Amino acid sequence: MVIIDGKKVSAEVKQQVAEETKKLIAQGVAPGLAVILVGDDPASRVYVNNKKKACELVGFKSVEYKLPAETTQEELLSLVQELNNRKDINGILCQLPLPKGLDENAVIEAISPLKDVDAFHKQNVGRIMIGDYDFLPCTPAGIMEMLKAYHISVDGKNCVVIGRSNIVGKPMAMLLLHQNGTVTICHSHTKNLKEIAKEADILVAAVGIPKFVTADMVKDGAVVIDVGMDRDEEGKLCGDVDFDNVKDKCSFITPVPGGVGPMTIATLMKNTLKAAKLQNNL
Ligand code: GUN
Repeated sequence: MVIIDGKKVSAEVKQQVAEETKKLIAQGVAPGLAVILVGDDPASRVYVNNKKKACELVGFKSVEYKLPAETTQEELLSLVQELNNRKDINGILCQLPLPKGLDENAVIEAISPLKDVDAFHKQNVGRIMIGDYDFLPCTPAGIMEMLKAYHISVDGKNCVVIGRSNIVGKPMAMLLLHQNGTVTICHSHTKNLKEIAKEADILVAAVGIPKFVTADMVKDGAVVIDVGMDRDEEGKLCGDVDFDNVKDKCSFITPVPGGVGPMTIATLMKNTLKAAKLQNNL
């Protein structure tokens, strides 16, 4: 059993981005990312801080907007519009979920597709569907990069994704399909979820329920990818996979923390670099 080291792979990706960023800066282009955080969700605050740190590491300019939970839809949309028009900002990310009363879809659609480094805009989602895209969503793309780094082939494998969110589950299924996986998406209405999961060669858990995937749901030798960032009964950080009991059945497994999370951020850096290049015709 191999514990996949997301920190190590993400450090390698960020190193590459840092080297390319140096070259861009020498050509007079300094990549810039704007991150918007509305409200005071503690997990979101941690994610946003990590994104800011990664920007500093790779040499990007980063601008952070911490807005109160009472921010109106109009105020948020006008900030997005302002950032769309700024030449020094290449990527715009609004951390989700937004506080109640704000319309996430409207905010996502307001972000210029050229600056949509999350790849959440419907134009970018549609392009992913047909395989002609500039940006891939950070978490699924980070997972694909991690599989590649460990020489885990998807071709012809039974891939089961648990969770159908727009952020992870749906695009994850699409990227596995692009690599010729045979993909099943399970969700809260799925019958026989355990049996389906147990058929998986590659199992991706993105449900947001602590330790949802138990050892009896995992095939011997499976690759298990844990997208969860949950808290257990004692308030300790854990994933969607019951790691201690599942790990010995796996060929590869990602830990929480130190698995998928760092890869999400590394992909965000890649996307922002790409956005800067595209916007400057490089
Ligand atoms: N919330 C959870 N994951 C993400 C992500 O990748 N991007 C944004 N904007 N919000 C998130």
